[in-house]
Amino acid sequence: MRPGGVDPSARQRFYNRSSEGSWVSFAAHRREVTARLAAAGGQPGASLGVLGAGNCNDLDLLRLAEAYASIHLLDIDAAAMQGGLAHQFATAPAGAQGLRERIRLVPCDLTGALEVCHEYAVAPTSGNLGRLRGALALLPAVAAGGGPFTTVASTCALSQLVSIFRRAMGEGGAELGPVGELVRLQHLRTVAALAAPGGTAILFADVVSSETEPRMLDAPAAELAALMERVCREGGCFPGMNPAGLVRLLDGPPLKDCWAGAPEGSAPWVWDLGPRSYLVTAITCRRKGDGGADWLGGGRVG
Ligand SMILES: C[S@@+](CC[C@H](N)C(=O)[O-])C[C@H]1O[C@@H](n2cnc3c(N)ncnc32)[C@H](O)[C@@H]1O
Repeated sequence: MRPGGVDPSARQRFYNRSSEGSWVSFAAHRREVTARLAAAGGQPGASLGVLGAGNCNDLDLLRLAEAYASIHLLDIDAAAMQGGLAHQFATAPAGAQGLRERIRLVPCDLTGALEVCHEYAVAPTSGNLGRLRGALALLPAVAAGGGPFTTVASTCALSQLVSIFRRAMGEGGAELGPVGELVRLQHLRTVAALAAPGGTAILFADVVSSETEPRMLDAPAAELAALMERVCREGGCFPGMNPAGLVRLLDGPPLKDCWAGAPEGSAPWVWDLGPRSYLVTAITCRRKGDGGADWLGGGRVG
């Protein structure tokens, strides 16, 4: 079998199983993610959509359910979300059990292209490549996910999506760059489309791992921004995950029309996943109060 020929959903489930017990090591990362999401909520009837919720170890669901009237968790791995939800509510006080009603799990493919990605990985024909590019040029049908949301967040899902499709393309293949670009654009446009007018979109982006950048493990918090900048300048970040490049895409046509101001990147922090750590930043965009670009309703995005 080609190296990319493993079913991508099965691979994601495997990754999630290996980090499901990481609740404790995720604590600092969870605080960063939850604080930003909670701060964007709090309005009566506010809704939250989380793309790539997985085991939910990076979400304090009880705190978020106090800040949002409804929460939709979207991921390809239903069992990971069920496990994460059960884990958090198992120890919740009796008075907080009712908050669970606010949380809905939405198993879905955030790209709408995983199946054809796998077909291409197994049989890299020009026909399968055309179908793959066609699928990535559409907004995925995640409408069942209940959006648009007052706040929509992608929680370190983009690096996974890019890596799934890169693996299927095969390292060094001519299609690697163009397909990776389609994946990035599709995901950013999905996030924008799921943000309600006047709402907030937050892209949590893991930029580099301690495997290639171990200095993050000892660096004082105040030096992490300079470290991230240097890693990106030297081309050491994950493919497609340079925050400056992501901000450029968000702040360029056609996405620029959606936002009330320029996207804002946060100071980075370290996400301790257990065996390795990641440098993570949050890029926040505010949706205009009035509509936005035509393509937000669905259809072709590229
Ligand atoms: C880095 S993990 C997110 C971490 C997670 N929030 C947690 O606390 O465990 C990325 C998530 O993206 C999900 N994912 C990857 N590809 C996906 C796809 N095509 N559609 C939906 N979810 C996907 C994985 O299942 C995984 O849960």
